[in-house]
Amino acid sequence: MNRKSFYVTTPIYYVNDAPHIGHAYTTILADVLARYHRLLGVPTRFLTGSDEHGQKVQRAAEKAGVTPQAHADRTVVHFLDLWRKLGVTNDDFIRTTEPRHVQSVQKILAGLYERGEIYRAEYDGWYCVPCERFFMEKDAQDLKCPEYGRTLEKLTESNYFFRMGKYQEWLVEYIHDHPKFIQPDFRRNETLGFLQKKLNDLCISRSKKRLSWGIELPFDRDYVTYVWFDALVNYISAIGYPGDPGMFARWWPASYHLIGKDILTTHTVYWPVMLKAMNLPMPETVFAHGWWLLGDSKMSKSAGNVVNPMDMAEKYGVDAFRYFLMAEMVLGQDASFSEDAFVRRYNADLANDLGNLLSRVMKIVASNCGGILPAPGPEGEPEQVLREAAIGAAGAMERSIEAMRLDQGLGAVAGVAREANRYLEKRQPWTLAKEKRADELNTVLYTAAETLRIVSGLLYPVMPGKMLELREVLGMGAREPAIADLKVWGLLKPGTAAGAMRILFPKVLPKAETDVPAPAAAAPKKAPGPAVPGVIEYGDFAKVQLKTARVLAAEKVEGADKLLKLQIEVGAEKRQIVAGIAQFYKPEELIGRTIVIVANLKPAVIRGVESNGMLLAAAVGKDLRIVMVDGEVPSGAAIR
Ligand code: ME8
Ligand code: MG
Repeated sequence: MNRKSFYVTTPIYYVNDAPHIGHAYTTILADVLARYHRLLGVPTRFLTGSDEHGQKVQRAAEKAGVTPQAHADRTVVHFLDLWRKLGVTNDDFIRTTEPRHVQSVQKILAGLYERGEIYRAEYDGWYCVPCERFFMEKDAQDLKCPEYGRTLEKLTESNYFFRMGKYQEWLVEYIHDHPKFIQPDFRRNETLGFLQKKLNDLCISRSKKRLSWGIELPFDRDYVTYVWFDALVNYISAIGYPGDPGMFARWWPASYHLIGKDILTTHTVYWPVMLKAMNLPMPETVFAHGWWLLGDSKMSKSAGNVVNPMDMAEKYGVDAFRYFLMAEMVLGQDASFSEDAFVRRYNADLANDLGNLLSRVMKIVASNCGGILPAPGPEGEPEQVLREAAIGAAGAMERSIEAMRLDQGLGAVAGVAREANRYLEKRQPWTLAKEKRADELNTVLYTAAETLRIVSGLLYPVMPGKMLELREVLGMGAREPAIADLKVWGLLKPGTAAGAMRILFPKVLPKAETDVPAPAAAAPKKAPGPAVPGVIEYGDFAKVQLKTARVLAAEKVEGADKLLKLQIEVGAEKRQIVAGIAQFYKPEELIGRTIVIVANLKPAVIRGVESNGMLLAAAVGKDLRIVMVDGEVPSGAAIR
């Protein structure tokens, strides 16, 4: 896609929380997108910031015995430090207590009030202190906050309201007509579902009697602005609205507002209506990602289960941490964080595949070519295959950025590094060196080095520090790559002196060796020494034929409350299997899904019903979760 400019934002985070990997995730994602677009040569602006008004900050300050401003000044530093540490290249950092923001909010409010978009009325409602939201009696079942179930406080007072309700029809239509406006699709449906109920006007004032820490209403000094009405404006106040129309026109509308799914309604209902009332265009896409979970529960300070991103970055390196977050989460869905999974992916993708590839190639360049990159001889088929794979990964990366499926792009790039290692196994440069077959050796070294040039460029937005180092080892100097160069083969100049060799990703020893399965793609080597109990040879694993299967139909088994009978398609073949999953899945949930089965299991009769194969599922406590396959995969595909 050709963009004339790229403007990406993160939520502005509440300053009173300590930053955790959830915040780090959104911000690193924005950073990767920003860096990628800069490499494309697209004028890019990346905004993040802090949300400093409201009850939560006021209360935290009271507790700490300081003014809210002093409290915000003290805590915002944690975020600023973290972003610096994580290599985040935001062009601006907006704090909602800055005069530029306060003035913008007040001008907007004054304009809306003048035009009758804001009115005063008597209000009777129920207030949730932690959420800072009012609820009508009918929405507040049992006088508990519908969001988190906390007890509400009764309130009657005069307040100011924004005429949000009258825009309901317009908004529904807008969302229908602009499928890219809310992404992923299922989040759009969530907002449309929310909009099936009547949309009320929004109370945008808070009486100073209760809350003084906010932006004063320009037309009534007894009130401050509702914190969300204040916070959302950051996306335009930071680019000069309304004071600097030139700058504003340059960046607005935003390309992406990145948010977590927890703040979907404010961004896809309140914000568009606010913009509409201001006669401003809508952002192109509000993209809501899922949550990082620890085990099954959301990370939050109150639950005491937060992972501190500083610790992870210190322990394993900033770039490896960034890579893990980007590669592990399927954008839009929840992902579970664990240090074990981190170490596994680190060792497999970074230490084994990428790091190993670099050191294998450059060691031979050093020992056989005097540290000078040799000119390649004629290409054979294995070279062509690898070249196409590398250039193909550049395309995959580009598509994955446009589709917001970074995990897929990164998967493709990691796949190329793996393939390059297999290529070396096949072409045996160490043997070629021994046998002095210089022409062939040079071709292999050049092909592998070119592959590394492309791979490192593609990974650069995610791991800028390490990929610059890698490129220095290749002899390219510390220059940023241009995306256009990553689709072209043969740009490394033969005769270039390689840089000093470095180990980029030293292997991490897992806590218990047994926690870590052998890297799936490594060539099966005989383990030295005596057999370890419980460890199998590759050949043992290869006896089990695992295949993908599509569920065509599913039904309960009469008289057996735990069993479901599935009709499945495995390639051209149709089969029936019986599985003990009835307590965990409804039959209709499974139809059309792609699952994994053991295809060469001896058929069995279970409760009088024939079962021809077995499906795989993860046992999670008492729950069972079926293994499903990511993406568009045909049935009958072998799993290795
Ligand atoms: O909501 N997994 O600020 P906030 C993934 N100030 N992302 C997470 C996460 C998790 N477990 N926890 C937090 C606010 N996030 C408002 C926003 S915007 C105008 C005002 C990320 O400090 C995610 O991006 O609670 C989420 O939307 C954001 O932090 C919420 O940050
Ligand atoms: Mg929050």
